[in-house]
Amino acid sequence: MAVHFSVDTKLTKLLGETYRSSEVALKELVDNAWDADARTVKISLPDPLSGDSVVVQDDGTGMTAAELRDEYLNIASDKVSRIGKETPGLRRRVKGRKGIGKFAGLTIAGMMRIDTVKRDHRCTLVIDKKQLVDNPDDLESIPLSFEERDAKGGETGTTVTLSHLDDGLNFPTPDRLREILIYEYGREDSFRVFVNGVALSVDDVPGETTAVVSTLPSAGNLDLKFTVAEGKKLPRSPGIIVKVGGKAVGKPQLFGLDEDDEVPAKLARRIYGEAEVPGIEKDVTADWGGVIENSKAFLEAQAAIRASLKKALRETYQQEMSQQKARLQRQIEARLRKLPENRRRFANDAIQRILVRFYGDSTEKIETIVEVALDAMEQDAYWEVLDRINKAKDSDVESFAEALEQFGILELSMIGVHARHRRTFLDGVDRLIQNPATLEKDAHKAFQGALWMLGRNYSMMSSNLTLKTMIESYCDQKFKGNRAAKRPDLLLSQDYGDSYLLIEFKRPSHSITRDDIAQAEKYRDDLAPRLASAAKFDIMLIGKGRVESIDANQLPAGVLIHSYVSILSAARFEMDWLIASLAPAPQAGGRPLVEGRTPVWN
Ligand SMILES: Nc1ncnc2c1ncn2[C@@H]1O[C@H](COP(=O)(O)OP(=O)(O)OP(=O)(O)O)[C@@H](O)[C@H]1O
Ligand SMILES: [Mg+2]
Repeated sequence: MAVHFSVDTKLTKLLGETYRSSEVALKELVDNAWDADARTVKISLPDPLSGDSVVVQDDGTGMTAAELRDEYLNIASDKVSRIGKETPGLRRRVKGRKGIGKFAGLTIAGMMRIDTVKRDHRCTLVIDKKQLVDNPDDLESIPLSFEERDAKGGETGTTVTLSHLDDGLNFPTPDRLREILIYEYGREDSFRVFVNGVALSVDDVPGETTAVVSTLPSAGNLDLKFTVAEGKKLPRSPGIIVKVGGKAVGKPQLFGLDEDDEVPAKLARRIYGEAEVPGIEKDVTADWGGVIENSKAFLEAQAAIRASLKKALRETYQQEMSQQKARLQRQIEARLRKLPENRRRFANDAIQRILVRFYGDSTEKIETIVEVALDAMEQDAYWEVLDRINKAKDSDVESFAEALEQFGILELSMIGVHARHRRTFLDGVDRLIQNPATLEKDAHKAFQGALWMLGRNYSMMSSNLTLKTMIESYCDQKFKGNRAAKRPDLLLSQDYGDSYLLIEFKRPSHSITRDDIAQAEKYRDDLAPRLASAAKFDIMLIGKGRVESIDANQLPAGVLIHSYVSILSAARFEMDWLIASLAPAPQAGGRPLVEGRTPVWN
């Protein structure tokens, strides 16, 4: 007998669905088992090149011949509008949406066979990918091989067998598949997922797994296992799920660590694990939704779990922060050296606090904050508070503590104030650039003391007197008499490391040409021998961008071209972001920056 697809919407669009990986495609079949109220789904992934099939077997409701025809083969029919938001049996949240997930199997296999048992009948359907590919515009006319047999007393469920796997794709591996499934299904007691015979577990969370077995005076055995998740994807329901005899009690918990001032909330939310505590069974509430409040055994277990978690979090934090700090080190040290000795320690602490507060943000963002913080710290208002701290040190504890608290508040508000000032300054520079009367020398003036506008990499650059004199004498020598009108506006600056940058300012209305580049290279060639070292020596031309005929990828080595407009817009973006980051964060876990204290893990 032959059955046919029936189609609701445009097919080409549906078949164009792509999956990030073979494992993500397979997850569609697991989602279907979930929607079918299965309690168990077993996936077997053969060894690559063995030629064996991938099999996804569930014990869900299965499908009747009519359902196969009207629902399974009805492409792009919306499951939720068909059955509602919850599954009829186990009242699960329905995952099916588009009515196309079944094709995911065919993205990795040439042949898909569906065996499904319901109401004493077994139906078998085979879909050959080649047939679909050959008739993409006319799926409805493809005859599909279909068989129906008696299956009295057979258990319901569906088995999807994928054969003729596509050699051109990455072969699905158990580890990657488990990693994809763990966060979504790892906590579901009513839905057990096995991959090659092994159930999903805490070990599947990417990252190092910690296992702690201990015996507590009242609670007895505590068997704790957790991972501080690595990678971009984070646990959906983070925390530790407490179990008694393998049965979950309530929801996963973080035991207050997400609200602990010493732990970055983002870090706490990376915990995924479980704790088996058989000794609290008598204190579990009747509905298994929690543990009675005054359970001594549970309080004891909680404290032990919390301590283990905190220890692991501290280790993870130190590891990650030391990497981040190493990157910031050069930047910070050069700046700290400029500060008087007694200020250095405070500046260092301030940076530690920033690292805790902005844990998890990109290195770029953190660098920006540190940069602005250091700038703020070089200003004097800041140190008045420090003086107060120093003076209060010998007086009573309370006023000392108060002084310290004020320092924290000031420190963060200084960063905010500073960022706002910079923002205003940028508006001023913008007006200058927009003014048609602005000349090279005007732009030069605005920029020379504010190289941070060029981005973090340049904020450490400075032009000292020696360099300034050098440029002046060079220009005086080269551009005198009738050449004086050609005198360029050059700024030579030096990095805290050992590299140089020669900036040539052009009028904001001038587009940089090839001649300009050649000319600037000439300046560099002339100047390089005058410098003490043979360090890296870049040149940057700033104007109205480059003329169209110059390809940005074809510029000579060490030559950079910028437009005032793009420099300003990038600098503004950075400051706006910073100002927004410093504003109180209303969402869960986000604490206002200037409230309370943020102790430091060193
Ligand atoms: N393992 C299964 N057991 C029982 N019924 C299934 C199974 N797999 C699919 N079906 C039925 O076939 C229908 C189509 O499945 P398909 O995965 O293509 O779409 P969907 O799950 O509704 O939506 P989505 O495209 O979001 O996955 C499902 O809605 C379900 O009724
Ligand atoms: Mg589906």
